[in-house]
Amino acid sequence: MHALFLVLLCATSFQAVRKAPPSFRSSQCIMGSPGRWILWTVCACLAARQKAALRVTMREASLEVVRGDSVLLPCSFFTSSDFSRLNVIWTLAPFSSPETPVQVIVYDHRQVIKNPSLIGRVDFTGLPSRADIMLNDTHVSDGGIYRCMVNNPPDTADPGVGELLLSVLEPPSLPVCEWDGDVDVGGSVRLSCSVEEGVPTPEIRWEKVDPEEISLPINMDGELSGSVQIVNVSSQTSGLYRCSAANALGTQNCYVKLAVYRTAADGAWGVLPGVLLTLVMSLVLLALLALVVWLHRTGQDGRSGRRRRRRRSRGHGKAEEEECYNEIRYTPSLMKRSFV
Ligand SMILES: *[C@@H]1O[C@H](CO)[C@@H](O)[C@H](O)[C@H]1NC(C)=O
Ligand SMILES: *[C@@H]1O[C@H](CO)[C@@H](O)[C@H](O)[C@H]1NC(C)=O
Repeated sequence: MHALFLVLLCATSFQAVRKAPPSFRSSQCIMGSPGRWILWTVCACLAARQKAALRVTMREASLEVVRGDSVLLPCSFFTSSDFSRLNVIWTLAPFSSPETPVQVIVYDHRQVIKNPSLIGRVDFTGLPSRADIMLNDTHVSDGGIYRCMVNNPPDTADPGVGELLLSVLEPPSLPVCEWDGDVDVGGSVRLSCSVEEGVPTPEIRWEKVDPEEISLPINMDGELSGSVQIVNVSSQTSGLYRCSAANALGTQNCYVKLAVYRTAADGAWGVLPGVLLTLVMSLVLLALLALVVWLHRTGQDGRSGRRRRRRRSRGHGKAEEEECYNEIRYTPSLMKRSFV
């Protein structure tokens, strides 16, 4: 009703305005006039006249879709001509390379031409009265600024272009936790965490979760990775650490378990066991050596004692022979025993 009223107003006053010089027309709009409604009429008139030309309107300024889902990109237009020469071009300026827009899909001479990389995923819905497109199985790379350009000669496009921002969201991927450094007492350790995917950019956080929960100060090494530096580690540093990557669509965690070892740097308690061990081992070795020496000496003493006793019991000349004889006599039995 409102539009009809404007058009009627226009029809009554348009002829009069057209006869006036151009300067009059602009002054009516800019400076006002004695008759206030004349001004309104003129302006309404100009607006109504623009409506007669082809005009594109985007029903949405921006849209969000979760990766993998389908999305309808709406593009409406008003035209007063028939659709025989309708031409629609959709382009995308991707977020990854905004300065190089690509053609998504084109309708021209009643034919649809699709970007080869999007075949099977994109199509017009509602042609020819609407220029909406449907995008299936969305990828993160589909995100960007979409432009819908419509021409329908002889209508003049005014404006024939509409813009729409599409964001393709995705949950964070599983982050990767790593640590490097020195887990000896007094050393320093660096925990790092990086995540590959996620839109909007996942927030990275490091926390110690066991034995007690503490959130840790993080240094961001770029957008998708963050690290924590722990200096002068002590036994209290031991425990379980968690890195979480979170965005609106979800959270993913990875974990690092640190065990801090006591070493020489840990003071007397670190040195003592080593020293004690060395001492004990030396003592054992010494004892063994002493035992061997003692056994050897008692063996010699026993034999020489026997010899002496034998020497004493037998004659001088025979004693030498008997000694040799005895040694020879014992040897075969020893050998036999070792072979049995
Ligand atoms: C997109 O999906 C819809 C619904 O699942 C389907 O009707 C349409 O044909 C699909 N479009 C393309 C281009 O595959
Ligand atoms: C390291 O920590 C110990 C106790 O945990 C402290 O006595 C020492 O002063 C610290 N050293 C440095 C360099 O901060």
